[in-house]
Amino acid sequence: MAPWSVERMTALAREIAEKTKTITGHLSSKGLGRHLTMSMAWPNSPSRPRTRSQLHDVAVGPKESLRYLAWDSADSPSLQALCEFKVPQAVPLDGIISYEDLAAKVVALNDGLDIPVLNLRRLVRHAMTNRIFAEPKKGFLAHTRVSRLMLEDEALSSWVGFMTHDLWLPMANVVGAMRRWPASEESTETGVNLAYRQGAAFFDYIQQDQALAQRYSLAMQAHGGGEGYSVASVVEGYRWGRLPEDATVIDGYISFAIAEAFPSLRFIVQDTVGMRTPETIGAVLEALQPRVQLTTHNFFTPQPVVADAYFFRHIFHGYADKYCIQILQALVPALRPGAKVIINDGALPEPGTAGYIEERTMQTMDIIMQVTVNAREREPDNWRMLFERADGRFRFGGCWRPEKSRMWFIEAEWAGEV
Ligand SMILES: C[S@@+](CC[C@H](N)C(=O)[O-])C[C@H]1O[C@@H](n2cnc3c(N)ncnc32)[C@H](O)[C@@H]1O
Repeated sequence: MAPWSVERMTALAREIAEKTKTITGHLSSKGLGRHLTMSMAWPNSPSRPRTRSQLHDVAVGPKESLRYLAWDSADSPSLQALCEFKVPQAVPLDGIISYEDLAAKVVALNDGLDIPVLNLRRLVRHAMTNRIFAEPKKGFLAHTRVSRLMLEDEALSSWVGFMTHDLWLPMANVVGAMRRWPASEESTETGVNLAYRQGAAFFDYIQQDQALAQRYSLAMQAHGGGEGYSVASVVEGYRWGRLPEDATVIDGYISFAIAEAFPSLRFIVQDTVGMRTPETIGAVLEALQPRVQLTTHNFFTPQPVVADAYFFRHIFHGYADKYCIQILQALVPALRPGAKVIINDGALPEPGTAGYIEERTMQTMDIIMQVTVNAREREPDNWRMLFERADGRFRFGGCWRPEKSRMWFIEAEWAGEV
């Protein structure tokens, strides 16, 4: 079937109708038919949004679909403006407000900043094309479910601010960074450095500004709290029970949940000195204290603890290959035959092997990792090669993704001598 043809349009439309029937049936069976306001896991149809956008693209043709793709870059400034100028806060929760009254409220919320009503109106009307706000009566604005979320869900509105403001300038500077520092693997030679004209790595940079750090931390809650990042998938997604009786696992904070589920395991939780605050130390439940020990260690320096398994969650995707190899090599002095290195991290699906949402999420994440720290997400082959490059005595055990998880498990075993 030709990709740009009437036949293809018809097939896509049929596919959408069939999948929509599955979804509506599922929602109605759960009594949710009239309240589609929460985030939903669409049953059996991971490719539904792709089918819909494919139908749009085929309908408008290749030339227009490309033109729209670039044209949609205006989504970010309108979203950014709503967030920055606190527009959702100026609209009554129930009822409507005229653009003139809205402008007066927005100016007051922004310390008298001159925001002309026509400028405000164009930003809001653009946002309306994305179902943010509605104009039920000409010249009067009301909340929609989406705009209310920007008011009511602090983590989600921080996510919007972080993506459309804090990260948007760095995104626009990633090509400039590639020209200025070709093939760099350094976290201080990125779009963030170019955009904000500063020399610190992303995380150090945001820590210098309390408001920025707080917005990032809340935004990560919206991201981490999303579908596919649950603690349960870490606990259930790996054969923890098959580790030797009384095995010692070196890890970050996720240990608490694994320790609760697997009483035969002991955990030594390593992190930087800065993370050993009374708050983090106090987080170990009394019942777990005999088996979960919080310690400090810099994972770029030789590992002092001989253990059965070394678990890294959400670590490697934050570093370029050069540094991941250093982290793996730093384990070698402590590794004994059969010791496992277990990684729980994002992985890039091979093109065409995952649903559209997962593929697009991970490809976007890969770009964000480059923009912020010159790191990357990895395909299964990249993971294998990482271990090979670190040391030929690692035996790669493969990658797998637990059901409903966006995070993969990647495993290797030490096959060297003592
Ligand atoms: C993205 S967080 C992941 C935390 C946790 N493993 C999880 O799954 O959510 C990265 C963690 O690595 C720690 N970290 C950063 N640099 C480190 C280093 N050189 N040595 C040890 N830990 C480090 C940070 O303090 C932070 O706790």
